[in-house]
Amino acid sequence: MSHFLKTSALMQRGTAFLGSEYAILCGAMSWVSERNLVAAISNAGGFGVIACGAMTPELLDGEITGTKALARKPFGVNLITMHPQLFELIGVCAKHKVGHVVLAGGIPPKGSVEAIRELGAKVICFAPTLALGKKLLRSGADALVIEGMEAGGHIGPVSTSVLAQEILPELAEDNLIFVAGGIGRGEVIASYLEMGACGVQLGTRFACATESIAHPDFKKAFFRANARDAIASVQVDPRLPVIPVRALKNKGTEEFTAKQIEVGKLLDQGSVDMGEAQLRIEHFWAGALRRAVIDGDVENGSLMAGQSVGMVTKEEPVAEIMAALMAECEAALATRKAA
Ligand SMILES: Cc1cc2nc3c(=O)[nH]c(=O)nc-3n(C[C@H](O)[C@H](O)[C@H](O)COP(=O)(O)O)c2cc1C
Repeated sequence: MSHFLKTSALMQRGTAFLGSEYAILCGAMSWVSERNLVAAISNAGGFGVIACGAMTPELLDGEITGTKALARKPFGVNLITMHPQLFELIGVCAKHKVGHVVLAGGIPPKGSVEAIRELGAKVICFAPTLALGKKLLRSGADALVIEGMEAGGHIGPVSTSVLAQEILPELAEDNLIFVAGGIGRGEVIASYLEMGACGVQLGTRFACATESIAHPDFKKAFFRANARDAIASVQVDPRLPVIPVRALKNKGTEEFTAKQIEVGKLLDQGSVDMGEAQLRIEHFWAGALRRAVIDGDVENGSLMAGQSVGMVTKEEPVAEIMAALMAECEAALATRKAA
């Protein structure tokens, strides 16, 4: 029995959907969300999600097997919609009877939502606007994540607070909506739950947990950083619609500007088309993130982080972070006047 009665009551639809004790997802973070962190999140009562990123089907197969060996509770898999082998990856999830697949990185391609549902798994999609949220639900998404631009990694243009106000009153009563972006403490979780969210998703707050395999220098950079250090990348070529990425400012963020100019020139010369140009940009990020997370190159790598990074001050076990979030949420709800 949970100590967090008020929070658990508000999270009930979310926990029933996820099969977890708390409706707190740790959003997939490429290179960071591998078996150790994912299993730790799920074992601590939350819901861990493997970041497939650019993995091949064989690598994903191995990662799911490895996570199963460590996790005693359910976990999900995040697939990037633009992955060229998306349907093979869905097949790997089917083989392992993964219960929840999160589709990230744009509108799911035709047939992908259906393919996931056919294997009996639940589909979670990102909704960048109210209209798209409605469309995704109509086309079969079981739940939505609305993620504001405070978040780490690839971001949309609108803040979490505005998305929550636009989307929750319209959709949350009849649908499962998780709120993400900029969540560092439980008090704000309480507010989103009261607005109708069935749960939340955090990334930055968990990235430097004890169980995270991120390099010690990557973690140190997070502990040192303030909210204002986590800045969104700037688009330099009007033809090249790069999705902004929020990361700690360093040489790598400057290199991204240079990369865009380089890819823009290739477009000028006609040596790449728009699709290839965007793919090159995404490969740049995947490589840069790996350099920071795995190699600890905090100068040239990409330190993707959300604005909540200022609230990440030390290495803590996942279970302690989870308990703190739940206790803060419960304490906030306890101060509300009885209806
Ligand atoms: C280092 C890092 C890597 C991320 N990589 C991915 C990814 O591969 N796929 C994805 O859907 N989201 C990715 N995200 C976003 C998270 O899943 C999550 O939605 C986000 O971190 C939530 O906002 P917060 O950082 O403010 O907590 C990443 C975030 C971070 C900080």
